[in-house]
Amino acid sequence: MKILITGGAGFIASHVADAYVQAGHQVTIADNLSTGKLEYINPAATFVKLDITDQVAIQELILRERFEVINHHAAHILVGHSVVDPQFDAQTNIMGLLNIMEAAKQIPIKKIILAATGGAMYGNRATPFVETMPALPESPYGVSKRADELYLNYYFKQYQIPYVSLRYSNVYGPRQNPHGESGVIAIFSEALAKGQQPIIHGDGTNTRDYVYVSDVAAANLLALTTQFVGELNIGTQTEISTNEVYDLVAQALRVNFPKQYDAPRPGDVMASSLDFTKAKEILGWQPQIDFATGVKQVAEWYQTFNVVQG
Ligand SMILES: NC(=O)c1ccc[n+]([C@@H]2O[C@H](COP(=O)([O-])OP(=O)(O)OC[C@H]3O[C@@H](n4cnc5c(N)ncnc54)[C@H](O)[C@@H]3O)[C@@H](O)[C@H]2O)c1
Repeated sequence: MKILITGGAGFIASHVADAYVQAGHQVTIADNLSTGKLEYINPAATFVKLDITDQVAIQELILRERFEVINHHAAHILVGHSVVDPQFDAQTNIMGLLNIMEAAKQIPIKKIILAATGGAMYGNRATPFVETMPALPESPYGVSKRADELYLNYYFKQYQIPYVSLRYSNVYGPRQNPHGESGVIAIFSEALAKGQQPIIHGDGTNTRDYVYVSDVAAANLLALTTQFVGELNIGTQTEISTNEVYDLVAQALRVNFPKQYDAPRPGDVMASSLDFTKAKEILGWQPQIDFATGVKQVAEWYQTFNVVQG
């Protein structure tokens, strides 16, 4: 299939691009390289440097190339920054999608796949979160991702463009940016691999659902062929505390610093996990990489990466 991947120079979508290329698809990547890296772009993919908020550039590309599928990962991903500057978040996450969809409705497109959020969609509720729970996003970032889903539903009803929204839990794996506000495994791994001591916000008992990036890439492959239209949680339904993450990363890197705590971050939910029964029933998807194995792989990747970077 002829596929456009937006954000394909970034952490998750570069792995999706690798999986699509390996499956024999013809991949084009559109990315502004704001957080993505040229070296993560699959060499078999065509790369176009553009910003999805540049309506002319993104629409010209879509109308010229007439992609069969658009896999949309380019986004503003910082939840904290979305609170400080909700207009910037909406400009990228909502207007960016609308720029894409207004061109997509003019070509015989087969499907849109959206990278959505499970962690920022359901609010402070009892876990695990199920797709039937009404969305209760607590940040502009969560609101913009929910708005994207509602727009995709509108384009499906109005223009019959099928979509699959994959609501990821906390994704982790090689290439994750350790300098952002989330991605605690990347942050701990990079710091500990450099011999620095990372800070744990709060008492470390808050939990998250961590899904490995190759499992997320597999869900994106399965989403290409399903007839299903709608939202699917992509997570592990397993809650891991921040203290456990720290211990596993430190163990994988064979370091033994005492834990250092700081005040909890305002707005951080205490617990998060996603029920993936629907994805299992519809896509036949389930996570393959257990947490200890995944953390070990990531910690080793950051160790090598730090050596290479110097
Ligand atoms: N990392 C997670 O745990 C997680 C969880 C849920 C959802 N998501 C979603 O997955 C997607 C990818 O996230 P990631 O963690 O790989 O982040 P990332 O920052 O590594 O990837 C985002 C990519 O989009 C590009 N980009 C950003 N703004 C752009 C713009 N205006 N025009 C063109 N390109 C632009 C960046 O350069 C980068 O390559 C995002 O949509 C994010 O909201 C991520």
